[in-house]
Amino acid sequence: MALLFYSDDDDPAAWRREVLRHAPALDWRTWPELGEVEAIDAALVWLPPPGLLAGLPNLKAVFSLAAGVDAMLRDPTLPDLPLCRMVDASLTRSMSEWVLLQVLKYHRLLDVYGAQQRSTIWRLYLPPGPAARVIGVMGLGELGTDAALTLARHGFTVHGWSRTRKEIGEVRCHAGSDGLASFLAELDVLVCLLPLTPQTDGILNAGLFSRLKPGCRLINVARGRHLVEQDLLDALATGRIAHASLDVAREEPPPQGHPFWRHPLIDLSPHTASYTTPESGGALVAENLLRLEAGAPLLHVVDRTRGY
Ligand code: NDP
Ligand code: OXD
Repeated sequence: MALLFYSDDDDPAAWRREVLRHAPALDWRTWPELGEVEAIDAALVWLPPPGLLAGLPNLKAVFSLAAGVDAMLRDPTLPDLPLCRMVDASLTRSMSEWVLLQVLKYHRLLDVYGAQQRSTIWRLYLPPGPAARVIGVMGLGELGTDAALTLARHGFTVHGWSRTRKEIGEVRCHAGSDGLASFLAELDVLVCLLPLTPQTDGILNAGLFSRLKPGCRLINVARGRHLVEQDLLDALATGRIAHASLDVAREEPPPQGHPFWRHPLIDLSPHTASYTTPESGGALVAENLLRLEAGAPLLHVVDRTRGY
């Protein structure tokens, strides 16, 4: 088996070491050193340049280094082969950690104290217990489910929303367009953990914001295109949304002068909420390579009609 690796953001040496730990016979190739392209069976990639995969005549499967495959599916040259996404314990854990961090910053009034410090004010407020804070998680997949359970374990009141109905511990689950209004109505914080699909593109918009309690906060850790940016700026101006924590943007990084950079009510981070470590994710890649070689069903194959 030969595997081609392409990513501008991930360390090829670390991935090679960890995948080979589980699949020592693998013929590893790191772009641009492709060698004989006819020999390449699989590709492990993040944002490959359009056409790269289409130029591998004997490719049998594509393994995404990311959970979200929206960018790959937008590439018209993507070969019609099984596309497997990343599902990994380190990715899930780090996302839940990040979401909890953002919620705790709000719950324990860290931005209030930050503003006070800048005005040399020393005043404390006792927050209510966490159960008084109502958090909503849009998307109850690998990441949303764990984030919702993590928040519930910390004592927050948690609602979740997905396409199909779920039963998840203490989480109050809502589903589909019929369940959206009841999901949104009571929230103090809305977390977006949806995949980007034609159905969810632009879902964080003025219409949705108008169904939230005034003063709700937004955490978008999914994709920049979920958010209609001008609608957020308008909602922040009127107080409809009190604060936004954005890990993703339509253009990454946003261009110089973009209003998000200096907005006092926006915390911006560079698409870093969660990450897969090669030590953890390497095992999945090796497992899928072994399955590919044995002709067994691959793990975490994307349903291209659904888009995730
Ligand atoms: P999954 O595919 O496991 O879960 C997706 C969830 O979204 C499912 O519960 C699904 O519902 C729900 N969903 C999809 N479409 C709709 C819809 N139209 N209406 C309501 N619910 C819908 O995804 P993951 O949890 O693994 O990842 C979620 C996203 O997080 C990724 O696609 C990626 O964009 C983003 N991400 C961001 C990272 C970052 O660092 N910022 C890192 C990793 C991922 P159902 O189960 O009923 O089908
Ligand atoms: C992902 C991401 O989808 O890092 O995995 O955004």
